[in-house]
This record gives sequence, structure tokens and C-alpha cells, in this order.
Amino acid sequence: MKKFKRTLLITGGAGFIGSHLVRHFVTKYPNYHVVNLDNLTYAGNLENLADIEIADNYTFVKGSITDLTLLRTVFKKFDVDGVLHTAAESHVDRSIENPMVFVQTNVQGTAALLQVAREHWTQPGRDYRFHHISTDEVFGALGDEGYFTEQSLYNPQSPYAASKASADHLVRAFHNTYKLPVVISNCSNNYGPYQFPEKLIPLFIKNILEERVLPVYGTGRNVRDWLHVQDHVEALDIIFHQGATGEAYLIGGHNEWKNIDLIHLLCRQIDRKLGRAFGESQKLIHFIQDRAGHDHRYAIDASRIKRELGWSPRYTFEQGLAMTIDWYLDNSAWMDRVSSGAYRDYYLTHMINNKSKPYESAA
Ligand code: NAD
Ligand code: DAU
Repeated sequence: MKKFKRTLLITGGAGFIGSHLVRHFVTKYPNYHVVNLDNLTYAGNLENLADIEIADNYTFVKGSITDLTLLRTVFKKFDVDGVLHTAAESHVDRSIENPMVFVQTNVQGTAALLQVAREHWTQPGRDYRFHHISTDEVFGALGDEGYFTEQSLYNPQSPYAASKASADHLVRAFHNTYKLPVVISNCSNNYGPYQFPEKLIPLFIKNILEERVLPVYGTGRNVRDWLHVQDHVEALDIIFHQGATGEAYLIGGHNEWKNIDLIHLLCRQIDRKLGRAFGESQKLIHFIQDRAGHDHRYAIDASRIKRELGWSPRYTFEQGLAMTIDWYLDNSAWMDRVSSGAYRDYYLTHMINNKSKPYESAA
């Protein structure tokens, strides 16, 4: 008798979205074994999962999705029957600095995972599923009107977006060619706890708290469509279980903000919470040189996932942003450890030495 109903491999589970996804599946589905494969780049932080790391149905494996030998061992050892693939290089500015690592992780890593899933998933009647977690940036930029839909053409602009678009194409190719049971989701900008402070919202919260400059790219009129990470995770759960094989679903909260308006809102809310004078933090705003190839606007038409799978976001932006600001205010130790680099010791000092839940070697 198998101890678990199924075994899910979540890649990149120590990252921002990945850690929320791991926590969600480990706590909501005690009859699933969740294997988190992450090679702990600068963005991978096991402290994000400290509350669930000793759960019986959770295993962490340190390793790269580009390592075919390791992937074969993991699939065989744990008899993986589902994949939720979040591992990626995810920051646009870093892709402009160093595109090659984006190709290695996002393109080659995705190809390696697909190949090993294809090799391993051969038993008839099993409920296999490869869910590729992607971004709306694959569609390029919108003008002031219109929305991305599942019919939008691919038109990626940054090396990050192009690497994610390539991964999406590979996922579809493995479905069309080998009948691999895949599903794809493309989501808009996420915000919430545990986001690495290189992305707009946590970086600006940190800088407002520390009274540092707020560097706004270009005019600040670029538009992003913000969704709370927990709403994204709930959409992923529904798509993983109920999405049609070979299909894609767009996820977004119909919540568009010009960067500069969002930045003013952050300044006002944090000043109020800290009892600072009205307008104090807005003095920190500096307009700087624009991001190269900066996409003007992203906006999602999420009607397909609402209509077909019954998903809609639960957080209003007002609630979600206030809770997010409170989380960063209450977790200044987390932010300090991320900023100083101390979080990188967590794996060495904690995971390996923690006898109650030893580090799983895939070898
Ligand atoms: P993140 O940068 O916070 O985390 C990425 C994780 O992947 C880290 O834990 C890192 O260690 C791991 N990783 C990187 N390279 C790896 C490798 N070779 N092998 C194993 N693990 C590796 O990313 P995020 O913001 O949480 O995004 C997660 C996924 O969701 C990405 O695929 C991204 O494209 C997509 N996405 C993100 C957003 C967003 O707003 N953040 C929106 C839509 C889609
Ligand atoms: O749309 C989904 C994408 O959202 C994800 O695929 C990416 O992984 C994620 O990083 C995010 O990409 P963006 O480039 O939109 O996010 P970022 O937080 O880097 O920037 C948001 C906006 O804020 C963008 O218009 C650039 C601007 N910005 C960002 C930073 C970090 C600034 O003006 N100043 C900054 O310092």
C-alpha cells in the first residue's frame, strides 16, 4: 500500500511563488508527497519554508533542473507523477545584465524536465501532469488599450521574456509530439510576503522604511496588473487539477496600476503606519534612466479561468497590499537576513544538521 496518493515535484520551491505553492500543497493535501527541487540561487531561501519543513509529506532536494542525471534519479526515487514547474531566473533587469543564465535555466532546464518526465511517465492509466508556470511577459507589451488573452501572439521583448516564451514552446512541443500531458499558465505581476527585494514592491517598501532613494524607471507611467501571490497559488491548484490537457490559462486580477501611482500609494500607506508626516516618503522618489526595452503595459483578461474553472481572486488590492506591507514591517529580520546574504547559510546550518528532517540526497 503506497503511503501517498501521488508525488508532486515542485521546482523552485524555495523562491517567492514556489514557497507559497509548496506550503499550500503540503498543508492542503496531506495525502500528496511534495518534493521541492531547488538549487538555491540568490533567489532561493529555505527560511521561507521554515514552518513546514518538518512535515511528513515534504522533502527538499538541492539540485538544478538542468542536471539530467539528478532529474532521472529524483523521478525514479520518488516516483514523481506530477510536476509544478516554477524554477526560473525571474528578474528582467538581471536578464538584461546576463542573459545566458536565463537561457540555461529557463530554456535548457525546462527541456530537461520535460525529457525526464517523458522518459518516466510510461505506465498506462496513471494520472500524470506537467504544469508549466509562466508569465504574461511572453506576449510582449500592450498599448493603453486591450488585454492579453489565451489567443494573444507571442512577442517577448526582454531576454527573460524570450527565455520563458521558449520554455512555453517546448512544453507545447512535448505535448504535440509525445502527448506529454501538459498544462500552461501565464500570470501577471505577483506581490505578497517572501518576495525577493529586487522586485518593485518589496524593494520600495524596504527603501521607504530605510529612507533610501526610490528609483523609478523612465516616466513611471508603465502599467502592471498586480495579483496577490495566494490568489495565484489557488489558481495554480485549480489549473493543475482541472485544467484541460494541452491548454493554457491566463491568470490576473484586473488590477492595473501605473508604477508611479502605486509608488505614491506605498509611500502614503507606510507613512501612515509609521506615523510619519504626510508626503515625507514621496520626497525619496527619483526618476532614473529607463529599463532597456521597458514594456509599456501588461493587462490580463482572465475570463477563461473564471468561466471554465470558476477561479477568481479573493484579495482586493487594498486588503492584499495592506497585509503585505504589514508582513514586511513585522518581518524586518527576514528582510535584514535577505539583504545581508545571511539567509544563504540557512541550508548549511539548518537543513543538513537538522536530524529530525535530514536533507534528502537524491543520489
Ligand atoms: P524567484 O526568483 O523568487 O524564485 C525562483 C526559484 O527558482 C528560486 O528558489 C531559485 O533558487 C530557483 N532556481 C533558479 N534556478 C534553478 C535551477 N537551475 N534549478 C532549480 N531551481 C532553480 O521567482 P518567482 O518570482 O517566485 O517566480 C516563479 C515562477 O513564476 C517563474 O517561473 C516566473 O517566471 C513565474 N512568474 C513570476 C511572476 C512574478 O510576478 N514573480 C509572475 C508570473 C510568472
Ligand atoms: O508580469 C509578470 C512578471 O512580473 C514576472 O514574469 C517577472 O518574473 C516579475 O519580475 C515581474 O516583472 P516586472 O519587470 O514587471 O517586475 P519588476 O518588479 O521588476 O518591475 C515592475 C515595474 O516597476 C516595471 O515597470 C519596472 C518598474 N521598476 C522596477 C524596479 C525594480 C522601477 O521603476 N524601478 C525599480 O527599481
